[in-house]
Amino acid sequence: MSSLAPPSKRIWWNEPVEGAELLWIGIAVVWGVIMTFMMPYWHVVGKQNLSSEAYRTTAAIHQAKTQAMIDQYTVRTEGERKFPVVAPPEGSDVYLIARLWDWWPILELKKGKSYRFHISSLDWQHGFSLQPTNLNVQVVPGYEMVVTLTPNQAGQFSIVCNEYCGIGHHTMVGKIYVTE
Ligand code: CUA
Repeated sequence: MSSLAPPSKRIWWNEPVEGAELLWIGIAVVWGVIMTFMMPYWHVVGKQNLSSEAYRTTAAIHQAKTQAMIDQYTVRTEGERKFPVVAPPEGSDVYLIARLWDWWPILELKKGKSYRFHISSLDWQHGFSLQPTNLNVQVVPGYEMVVTLTPNQAGQFSIVCNEYCGIGHHTMVGKIYVTE
């Protein structure tokens, strides 16, 4: 017997399926159906799911939109690298850049107001993880992830990168201020 020789029984596919095999096929199909319905169920009931949208963009377009927001609404700078702290108007579109290894710029938002976040990467895959809230969004170059966020708590929040992106991954930490 070799893999090159034809099987000895020529019509091997026409034999009856064993009971145990049928049972497993049945279990797999039922489980697949359950999991399919769990997707919309988790979306509506699960508290960890964001209703995010994704649109095609480019690094140049996203950078230009972010820079326009920074130019218009920067209120101060922070640190040695003079990170802009941007306070966009309530309810406006907010742009955030992920890149090796920054979240740019720092945002200052108002508690109880909704903002439409546009998050994209200029280079690599990153993971937006808002702490300590634990709100997560995949950030992929070529797409902007759009999420409506309404901060319900004042304070300082960190954005941690939770997708390994190279030697500076652990230093990729951003900041969001929420004021009363
Ligand atoms: Cu960006 Cu890890």
